[in-house]
Amino acid sequence: MLYHRVLITGANGLLGQALVARMSPLPDYDVLATARDERLRLPGASCGYAPLDITDSDAVEAIFENFAPSVVVNCAAMTQVDDCEHDRERCRRVNAEAVETLADACRHTGARLIQLSTDFVFDGSEGPYDEDDRPAPVNYYGEAKLAGENAARRAGIDKWAVARTVLVYGTAEGEARSNILLWLLDELQAGQRVQIVTDQIRTPTYVVDLAAGIEKMVRHEATGVYHLAGRELLSVYEFAQTVAEVYGLDETLIEPTDRTEFTQTAERPLVTGLVTLKAETEISYRPRDLGDALRHLAPRLPIADV
Ligand SMILES: NC(=O)c1ccc[n+]([C@@H]2O[C@H](COP(=O)([O-])OP(=O)(O)OC[C@H]3O[C@@H](n4cnc5c(N)ncnc54)[C@H](OP(=O)(O)O)[C@@H]3O)[C@@H](O)[C@H]2O)c1
Repeated sequence: MLYHRVLITGANGLLGQALVARMSPLPDYDVLATARDERLRLPGASCGYAPLDITDSDAVEAIFENFAPSVVVNCAAMTQVDDCEHDRERCRRVNAEAVETLADACRHTGARLIQLSTDFVFDGSEGPYDEDDRPAPVNYYGEAKLAGENAARRAGIDKWAVARTVLVYGTAEGEARSNILLWLLDELQAGQRVQIVTDQIRTPTYVVDLAAGIEKMVRHEATGVYHLAGRELLSVYEFAQTVAEVYGLDETLIEPTDRTEFTQTAERPLVTGLVTLKAETEISYRPRDLGDALRHLAPRLPIADV
C-alpha cells in the first residue's frame, strides 16, 4: 500500500470539498485542505486546514516546507467563465501563473501535481473529445486553463497529470458557488421559468464520481492527461429536463433557447463532452449514469423525497 501526503488546494469549492470528503477517511492518505478563506466550510480533512492563496508564492513555499506533500491536487481556480473574459489578468494569475508556482514547488520537492482542467480547452466543433484531440479554446477561461495544463508539466516528467472535466454538478457546504443543478432546483421550486440552451452539448459530471476518479489518479500515480466526466452526451436543456423528471419538478417551466437568442459574455464551445475510455481502462474510473447520480444526490438536496 502506497502512502500519500495529499495537499488539496481550493478545498472550499465544489470539487475540493468532495475530494476532501472522499480521501480523508482512507488510511493511505494524509490530507491537508487549503483554501483562501479563514476556515474550511466542510471540516474533516485528516491533517486539518491551512489558508492558502495559490497566487502567493511565499505561502506556497511555506506550505511545501511545513507539510511536505507527496501529491498536490490543484482544485483552486477562477471558474466563472464570463468574469474571466472581463478580468483576464486575474484569470491568468490564478488559472495559469499560480499553476507554474505549484509545479515548480513540486519539481523542487519531488511531489506529483494533478491539475484540474476543462472541456473548454476545446472549440466545440466536433465533440466529444478524447485526450489526444487538439485543444483550441474559444474564450479566455479556456485559454488560461490550457496554459495551466502546460504549466503543470513543469512538475517534471512522470510527475504531472491533468484531469479534465465538464459541467460539474453536486452539493457543497457553506457559501460555496452554486452550480447548474442547485440553481435549477431553486428556480423550479420557486415556480420560475428558466431558459436553457439546446445547442450546448456536454457530458455532465457528478462531483462525487469526479472525486472518486481523482482519488484513483492519485492511487495509480497516473501521469499525463485524463478525461473524467459523466456517461451521457446530452444538451444542457436535456440535462435540465432529466433533473426535473427525476426530482418530480415541473418540466414545463424549462424553456428551450439557443445561441440565436441567448447570448453570454464569453463565447461557449458548442459540442464538447469528454470521452472517458482511457480513465475507465487505466484507472477503473466508473461514473454512475445520470439517473443514478441524481438519486444518489437526492438525500443531500433541499427537495421532497424522490
Ligand atoms: N464546475 C465545473 O463545471 C467545472 C467544469 C470543468 C472544469 N472545472 C475545473 O474543476 C476545478 C474545480 O472547480 P470547482 O467546480 O470546484 O469550482 P469552484 O466551486 O468555483 O471552486 C474553485 C475554488 O477555488 C478557489 N480559488 C479561487 N482563486 C483561488 C486562489 N487564488 N487561491 C486559492 N483558492 C482559490 C475559489 O475560492 P473563492 O470562492 O474564494 O474564489 C473556489 O473555492 C477547477 O479547476 C475548474 O476549472 C470545473
